[in-house]
Amino acid sequence: MNCCKSTPSRRTFIAAGGATTAAVTLAACSSALQQEKFSDGVFTQAIELTQLPPGSSMQLTVGGSQVLLYRESENTVHAYSAVCTHQGCIVGASEDASAPFVCPCHASHFDKATGEATAGPAKTPLTRHETAIENGWILVEVEETH
Ligand code: FES
Repeated sequence: MNCCKSTPSRRTFIAAGGATTAAVTLAACSSALQQEKFSDGVFTQAIELTQLPPGSSMQLTVGGSQVLLYRESENTVHAYSAVCTHQGCIVGASEDASAPFVCPCHASHFDKATGEATAGPAKTPLTRHETAIENGWILVEVEETH
């Protein structure tokens, strides 16, 4: 994210009221770094490992949760809530291995390896879910369904 690297000019800083600008800049940067982590759920079978080859991603329902999966490598799988942090649409996954996760509503982009918002109106990262690989399955920690 480039918000932390931008440095306002002296004129911009003075015109905007210096301290206020600095505080807003810091708040924006720190919120982008504070990723919510889902917890207190149950590890639930999401998909067989063979159905998500390394480098691929998908959007699916696990339990009652909409989830995005990205298998970064043989033994590393990232999972996020597919609920967009902008206004709650369901973020999708492309078959293009190099494409980010993209929200269909206002085109926010999210990094597949971190969940960070990288383009569009969303400013906060996707909520991360814990994952595990067990007996040939990818497990994702999601809310328990009854
Ligand atoms: S709801 Fe996702 S970008 Fe607006």
